[in-house]
Amino acid sequence: MPADDVGATDPLAAFDVGDPSFTHDPYPALAALREAGPIHLHEPSGRWLVTRFDDVATALRDRRLGRSYTHLHDHAEMGRPEPDPRWSSFHEHERWSLLSLEPPDHTRLRRLVSKVFTPTSVARRRDEIEDLSRLLLDRCAELETFDLLSDYAQPYSIGVICAVLGVPADDAAQLLDWSHAIVKMYELDADDDTKRAADRAAGEYIEHTRDLIAAKRAEPDGLLLSELVAVEDGGETLSEDEITSTTMVLLEAGHEATVNTLGNGFRALMRHRDQWRRLTSGEVAADTAVEELIRWDAPLQLFERWILDDGVSIGGVDLPVGQEIAMLFGSAQRDPRRFDDPDRFDVARGDASHVGFGGGRHFCVGAPLARLELEVSVRHLARRFVDLELVEEPTYHPTFVIRGLESLRLTAG
Ligand code: HEM
Repeated sequence: MPADDVGATDPLAAFDVGDPSFTHDPYPALAALREAGPIHLHEPSGRWLVTRFDDVATALRDRRLGRSYTHLHDHAEMGRPEPDPRWSSFHEHERWSLLSLEPPDHTRLRRLVSKVFTPTSVARRRDEIEDLSRLLLDRCAELETFDLLSDYAQPYSIGVICAVLGVPADDAAQLLDWSHAIVKMYELDADDDTKRAADRAAGEYIEHTRDLIAAKRAEPDGLLLSELVAVEDGGETLSEDEITSTTMVLLEAGHEATVNTLGNGFRALMRHRDQWRRLTSGEVAADTAVEELIRWDAPLQLFERWILDDGVSIGGVDLPVGQEIAMLFGSAQRDPRRFDDPDRFDVARGDASHVGFGGGRHFCVGAPLARLELEVSVRHLARRFVDLELVEEPTYHPTFVIRGLESLRLTAG
């Protein structure tokens, strides 16, 4: 729907995560919402939608907001129900995840994990990552048509994160299935069947991860999971539950967004042939293009925060303790107040100050690894498959928070 039409009606009514035309192309509706105001109460979810770049960037860094509140307030104080006991495995799996923690636990766990993901430690993995990318693209080259997601991006990105963690490559397919089921829990309109499947997957995944930890205890290999098991940092040790959650968040966060950045990004490149040619000709470097791939069609569209302290005001609205905001990354990254001609897909834009990797305390710990994986992929594909073309128009998954394609069938031309 063109932005004008959306604007003519209630802009909030057009923000309908259950409507396939919205999930196919949310940007006109997001533009209407953003231009109608910086913040809107979304009654179905009870959350305040934050639409503009500056407000999102500020909220990410505001320490009076948190991804969780249980370190300060109990559920009753926040006016929230107790967690649904039917989804106990799901809650257990994220109990000690970096994404569920705030200081001091967050600081302690993050310090250990981030050591492995510094640009320098990640750069040491470059050769291995280049080799995996080449191997998978060799296989794609033998096919008449290939699906960039299932034939390349998924085995590539799960392969990289398994190698970093020291998880056997044979586990990858099963991990992908569990992870796909679990992340559906984060959608705004997840129904009970979806939640049941997510909970079952989380339970199986926890058991499997515990077995892996036991194996690393018996036979350490110096890779991340083994390091977490062995860690003695300033006299502190990690509990088995902490190691389990940390492993799981790295495996989940470590591939879904990377896969969807490649899918959404290559859809955009195939539809903007002039931009693809700027890459194949070498006019624009792959690492420059990667930033625009993340900005233009964000793989993660929405992140939530709780108001934990008094005095917070966003977009002119005072928000008391206990309110919840939903920051709309896809909207923020198309905000004309921040980006010139924001709907234009321009691989040379090279603006790395988008919010695609978040900001503040929870800034993506895997960003250096993700950037390396994406740069290698874009460079190899542009060099090898100059005449790459879409075989058919791809379809987006009917989800909003995690935005990605079902498949992206391409031919080398
Ligand atoms: C293009 C790919 C990626 C994107 C767009 C992305 C995006 C993000 C964003 C937006 C956040 C912050 C969430 C918030 O503030 O609420 C985040 C956090 C996180 N990401 Fe990524 N990510 C990507 C790849 C990766 C990779 C490859 C890894 C693993 C190695 C990873 C691991 C994590 C972890 C563990 C966190 C939680 C950090 C914390 O809470 O301290 N991500 N990511």
